[in-house]
Amino acid sequence: MAKILVTGGLGFIGSHTVVELINAGHEAVIVDDLSNSSAVVLDGIESITGTRPKFYRVDLKNKAEVHQFFNNHNDLDGIIHFAAFKAVGESVAKPLEYYENNIGSLVYILQEIRDLSLNNFIFSSSCTVYGQADELPITEHSPVKPAMSPYGNTKQIGEEVIKDAINAHGFNAISLRYFNPVGAHPSAEIGESPLGVPLNLVPFVTQTAAGIRQQLSVFGNDYETRDGTNERDYIHVVDVAKAHVIAVERLLGSKNLSNYEVFNLGTGTGSTVLEVIQSFERVSGESLNYKIVDRRPGDVTAAYADTTKANAELGWKTEKTLDDAMTDAWRWEKKIRNI
Ligand code: WQD
Repeated sequence: MAKILVTGGLGFIGSHTVVELINAGHEAVIVDDLSNSSAVVLDGIESITGTRPKFYRVDLKNKAEVHQFFNNHNDLDGIIHFAAFKAVGESVAKPLEYYENNIGSLVYILQEIRDLSLNNFIFSSSCTVYGQADELPITEHSPVKPAMSPYGNTKQIGEEVIKDAINAHGFNAISLRYFNPVGAHPSAEIGESPLGVPLNLVPFVTQTAAGIRQQLSVFGNDYETRDGTNERDYIHVVDVAKAHVIAVERLLGSKNLSNYEVFNLGTGTGSTVLEVIQSFERVSGESLNYKIVDRRPGDVTAAYADTTKANAELGWKTEKTLDDAMTDAWRWEKKIRNI
């Protein structure tokens, strides 16, 4: 049993990771600023696990607040850091807020890890660090290319900050580079609940089917893919969450091969936008209203993971399929809309 801090623990991936930490017998402590989440998520976590984790509302951009929290919790066995802004398009419009939040909060947390000699840090990174990879599938050795957005740049910079801090102060860390997390917990007690108009594909699909949105716009069908629409690696959020538990336990058990490791988290299979729509229609029985529109600036044509390293080193691989993710996402959408 370990005491693990989960920043952004009321968010989409964070809340699912808290559930899996509790399921694995650990104590999860959540900090979240509620800028893109709600405290009602605690009810969902409790109904799934029977445990209501401690939650502290902390503005991680506020150094004094971060310092106070860590001084009251200087016995943490590990830290999983999700808290960040994550909308690619929004980051282009608001780069300074993204750097302030995503980099500032990371630096403040790493300073506390240094000062309190804490250890076992898991960083929420992203496949966006690869940009449009020259070769597919994408391995951890694929070159990190110039970021396509300030969001992606905050993840690239974040990894560099962590490496420099490790070299200077000697703690252990793992960066997990997610591909496209989708779906919801099968219980429909927690899921993805973006505030406002969804920027990501799957919540827009389920909200269109629920009648919240009029029509899904498919951003381009003239890409060099099998059906002309973008290809991504859609990974079920529960599989992503389980990988975090394995990663923090790897560090807790000193199984890491170096003091900084990187793993891709994906299924290893690409799906196009039209294939995602077909999957949703197949599992839901709904006919989705969509139209093809112009490309979205910043989109890469295709990205999917080579999962060899995570499979071999973490002993982890995805258990859920795209259909599972669409099924769970739709069940969640119907639950929160009382359909
Ligand atoms: C997926 C595909 C769009 C919306 C995400 C996260 C990012 C990072 C990587 C974690 C693209 C198309 C979308 C719509 C569409 N994850 N699309 N109509 O851009 O791959 O990035 O994964 O760090 O944080 O945002 O995901 O869901 O926005 O787009 O046609 O209304 O769906 O063009 O091909 P993306 P997305």
